[in-house]
Amino acid sequence: MHRPTFAIMEKQLIDPFARAIKYLRVSVTDRCDFRCVYCMSENMEFLPKKDLLTLEELDRLCSAFIGLGVEKLRITGGEPLVRRGIMTFFNAMTRHLDSGALKELTLTTNGSQLAKYAEDLYAAGVRRVNVSLDTLDDQKFADITRWGRLPQVIKGIDAAQKAGLRVKINAVALKGFNEDELFTLQSWCADRDMDLTFIEVMPMGDIGNEDRLGQYWSLNDLRKQLGERFTLTDLAERSGGPARYIRIEETGQKIGLITPMSHNFCESCNRVRITCTGEIYTCLGQEGHSDLREPLRASNDDDVLEAAIHRAIGLKPKGHDFDYSRQTVDGRVSRHMSHTGG
Ligand code: GTP
Ligand code: 5AD
Ligand code: SF4
Repeated sequence: MHRPTFAIMEKQLIDPFARAIKYLRVSVTDRCDFRCVYCMSENMEFLPKKDLLTLEELDRLCSAFIGLGVEKLRITGGEPLVRRGIMTFFNAMTRHLDSGALKELTLTTNGSQLAKYAEDLYAAGVRRVNVSLDTLDDQKFADITRWGRLPQVIKGIDAAQKAGLRVKINAVALKGFNEDELFTLQSWCADRDMDLTFIEVMPMGDIGNEDRLGQYWSLNDLRKQLGERFTLTDLAERSGGPARYIRIEETGQKIGLITPMSHNFCESCNRVRITCTGEIYTCLGQEGHSDLREPLRASNDDDVLEAAIHRAIGLKPKGHDFDYSRQTVDGRVSRHMSHTGG
């Protein structure tokens, strides 16, 4: 009776620093219908469609990870909802929620396609979405996303909430851009019963003339500003991602802080990411990666794939080397955020 449990435990993904890998982020496309200035350059070259994993291959790969103990699956991009046929993939993942192996199926989106997909996502078992939104000002939104329009995203958020999805807003904290909107964003989210997470900007990819150091707004400062107006309580609860949460006692709302720059959280890292071509990046902040597409295509035998996954996890580095502290941008990685979906 005890042997099966033991067999599953033996297969668990544990990295060289004794961190258990339970969270898989899968980028299903590198394309996006926006061009956010901190994420992409204006003229991006995207991968040819033939290099992408098919939806069936994505299914097999994710299912292999779930068989190895992954409990949280986050679909990312680029913008995941611009991948053709993506609902077929979400619907296929529902079986892992039904079996109990997967605890959460979710996505990070720019919101542009949510009006179209919210109900289908809920039907597939998604209960929570993270929507990237850095400003509530129409013109600033158009400026920062280059191609996006705010009303379309608000419509998407409305549809998500109507469909029963819990929405968390992700805002990249950008000096001189949304500092003046701290309380506007906070109260807008409180009014709509949405959580809000701020993210420190990371030096990823060549984004043209943008100046990372000039963009950087430390969340220590942001927290101080919030504390001047509200009573803040640190919470022990986690959402399985890198955010630490504080509660604003006056509104009851939760604010997440993702602080790769001011407070490194790598020691509790539980995640790896897969790109749409089947590369595995075991750290967002390092260049190292391995290929899973070749073993995936080489054989229908999952043992080959599982062995390749274990090998890749065995190479997971201790953490990133991003650092702005010497007034220079250190530890930069060359690929864009859209390559691995954050
Ligand atoms: P929850 O399930 O709500 O906790 O989501 P999450 O924070 O795991 O996912 P989301 O896609 O909303 O990620 C928010 C931001 O955190 C993105 O900008 C990611 O790039 C960043 N992030 C996620 N994981 C890591 C990580 O391992 N290292 C670093 N440096 N940043 C990360
Ligand atoms: N630094 C921090 N966050 C970033 N994102 C995109 N580029 C960066 C960056 N350079 C965020 C998006 C989205 C998430 C997937 O990553 O806004 O919320
Ligand atoms: Fe697209 Fe997201 Fe990158 Fe913006 S941050 S360009 S929405 S992938």
